[in-house]
Amino acid sequence: MTGDIGIGIHDLSFATTEFVLPHTALAEYNGTDIGKYHVGIGQQSMSVPAADEDIVTMGATAAAPLIARHGADRIRTVVFATESSIDQAKSAGVYVHSLLGLPPATRVVELKQACYGATAALQFAIGLVHRDPAQQVLVIASDVSKYDLDSPGEATQGAAAVAMLVGADPALVRIEGPSGLFTADVMDFWRPNYRDTALVDGQESITAYLQAVEGTWKDYTEQGGRSFDGFGAFCYHQPFTKMAYKAHRHLLNFCGYVTDEAQIARAIGRTTAYNRVVGNSYTASVYLALAALLDEAEDLSGQSIGFLSYGSGSVAEFFAGTVVPGYREHLRTEAHREAIERRRPVDYAGYRELHERTCPADGGEHSTPAQTTGPFRLAGIRDHKRIYERRPEGRTVA
Ligand code: CAA
Repeated sequence: MTGDIGIGIHDLSFATTEFVLPHTALAEYNGTDIGKYHVGIGQQSMSVPAADEDIVTMGATAAAPLIARHGADRIRTVVFATESSIDQAKSAGVYVHSLLGLPPATRVVELKQACYGATAALQFAIGLVHRDPAQQVLVIASDVSKYDLDSPGEATQGAAAVAMLVGADPALVRIEGPSGLFTADVMDFWRPNYRDTALVDGQESITAYLQAVEGTWKDYTEQGGRSFDGFGAFCYHQPFTKMAYKAHRHLLNFCGYVTDEAQIARAIGRTTAYNRVVGNSYTASVYLALAALLDEAEDLSGQSIGFLSYGSGSVAEFFAGTVVPGYREHLRTEAHREAIERRRPVDYAGYRELHERTCPADGGEHSTPAQTTGPFRLAGIRDHKRIYERRPEGRTVA
């Protein structure tokens, strides 16, 4: 039985891209008042993938430190959540499995439901660990958020991957049982198979998100969840960080509280530190919020965190986790800050050129420019097959 020890997130690590575009460069190019980006949507900069980076290289980079620290002996399942999939059939997780040298006796699968996919992966992982508490599940959320150039969505792009080791007796966060669920068939944001960039109805997407906040909270309460006052902090999906504030304000109003901006800032502020400079990382975003909270906050031992995971289209879930005493000894704060600080600024022209790159579809041999300095890279495409490399000198900190 795992009832006493609980199941949850044992370790968490994130990775982001080689390049970063400051919003000042975008604002200068398109003549937007920088206040709209810095204050209006709450974004400072966005991660930009190099030509030889994608969801696989980011996912492998995020997961490698978990394997270095814990080994792979107990991992029998890898769940890769993404909405910027690179293949319609093969799971991106199989490439990661190979790059990390995981054992053949592993099940690997990819999950999709917009930005919600990683939460489905986490819940499925908890179910597997319940069945056999000796096993661990590697959950990887990795996405590149890409909208059309010169569209309103352009300012809300970004890219990152979060890897989580899910198991019994976790060192970081125990995930609690009751979940509030909500599904509604809306066309707020979607990406047909023939498009590289997402389509979005911006205002509709904000409304749909807020409806999902209400819907999940209502169900969470009916399922016997904690009362609103029982939470020390809230991690929201953050397509842009201002959205977390809108969502929390909405939840407070829905629960009949008077909204106090200082109180909202206390509940949300620390969760936005990484998303504010990384941008939208779709499936990874809500877990990047958790990473920032754990890394930024004073001791949260024993406190409950509310999670709101939203995926357009739409599916959402509200659930709670309790921070495990002693968690701070297991954090990767320094590595997380380095992942952000090591990014090289790209100018607007350079970003635009990277944005306009498309995947060659002629079946020929195409090598990819070596722009990255991280441990994994997409070396090229040959016969429609993606070729990845692990740099021998690639350093992984346990
Ligand atoms: N100084 C300060 N604030 C300013 C300003 C200035 N100079 N100029 C404008 N603003 C404020 C506006 O008042 C507005 O604030 P409020 O929302 O609080 O009213 C904010 O900046 C944004 O301004 P607009 O609404 O005019 O901006 P826009 O038309 O360019 O659209 C957007 C913004 C809808 C977020 C757009 O970037 C977009 O479509 N993004 C992609 C979709 C998205 O992220 N949706 C979120 C919910 S869906 C989801 O969460 C799933 C997902 O990941 C996609």
